[in-house]
Amino acid sequence: MSLRYPVARPVWAGNEEQYVLDCLRSTRISSSGPYLERFEAAFAGHCGARHALACSSGTAALHLALLALGVGPGDEILVPSLTFVAVANAVAYCGARPVFVDSEPLTWTLDAARLAEAVTPRTRGVIAVHLYGHPADMDAITAVARRHRIFVVEDAAEAHGAVYRGRTAGSLGDVATFSFYGNKVVTTGEGGMVVTSDSRIADRVARLRGQGMEPARRYWFPERGYNYRMPNLLAAVGLAQLERIEWHVERRRQVAAWYAESLAGQPGLRLQPELDGCLNSRWMNCVELLDPAASRDGVMARLATAGIETRPFFPPMHTLPMYSDGVDRRALRVAEQAATRGLNLPSHAALEQDDVRHIAREFLAAVAPGQA
Ligand SMILES: Cc1ncc(COP(=O)(O)O)c(C=O)c1O
Repeated sequence: MSLRYPVARPVWAGNEEQYVLDCLRSTRISSSGPYLERFEAAFAGHCGARHALACSSGTAALHLALLALGVGPGDEILVPSLTFVAVANAVAYCGARPVFVDSEPLTWTLDAARLAEAVTPRTRGVIAVHLYGHPADMDAITAVARRHRIFVVEDAAEAHGAVYRGRTAGSLGDVATFSFYGNKVVTTGEGGMVVTSDSRIADRVARLRGQGMEPARRYWFPERGYNYRMPNLLAAVGLAQLERIEWHVERRRQVAAWYAESLAGQPGLRLQPELDGCLNSRWMNCVELLDPAASRDGVMARLATAGIETRPFFPPMHTLPMYSDGVDRRALRVAEQAATRGLNLPSHAALEQDDVRHIAREFLAAVAPGQA
């Protein structure tokens, strides 16, 4: 479906064309080359971490991070249920079991107050997700993790440039992961990054993403690895995007401010806030319809006829067929409620104030058709 106002689109605001052309002309298009080195170094610097390892997707980044942390069969990993399915899938790829934890009702990120009750002797770690651009409460999550001696993976797939208590997303856990899918704040089309300051984890990730090859011995594979590499060609796009990350985040925050202005004071609506001490990078502009009589799907259908694309919140992962066995849904009510009432409005860096005003007007008309 091609609509006049898509939810997401990439925006080229820097050296993308020049770097890609340079890469093509150099013939260094595959999984080694100067753009990869520059992208990784610049990304580590941006996050304030020692190592950044580019890979083929955000899902691969999560899988590599968990493997490098030694996750395997029999382990349990705590994950927020309200997020993209890749989080649980990466846990399952390792033969481990995702254990779903509810969201807190304000930002819909992982509820740290519910973590401890989900810990068992098999729990090895927690994946905290900065949902839709808002940082998870990392200090509270880390405090529980330290008490129970489990690791923290920070999934920042949706939150490039977000900040939590003065620290940039990517530097807040034992390992962080990012996605560069085409709808993200920084994109390479498809791609991912593992970020860590732990050299042992970085070495494991580097090996596993390249089929497990021993670094000093070509074509010698002492263990089974993966082809999860990123090509130099895509790193060229990523580097150009990263060079303008402040602009991208600023534009997205401007779009969010315009939505807030246009929808301020409207009864029955709640936008994703920005909690004190946090910078929400506004990957998505999220609205929750609070009136139980409101039809979220009806609103989305009406907006589609006006050429405006919207997306529903992610279905909580514990409701998906492969993850629903034995789950106590009463403990996951916040996630379930937000998922049925929430939607994402068009959210990208090329939107102008008039676009946002128009979308907001159509949105309000769709929410309360009688009053339009
Ligand atoms: C929170 C989260 N984690 C992981 C991923 C997976 O990233 P990718 O699509 O690059 O594999 C996504 C993708 O949107 C995501 O939103």
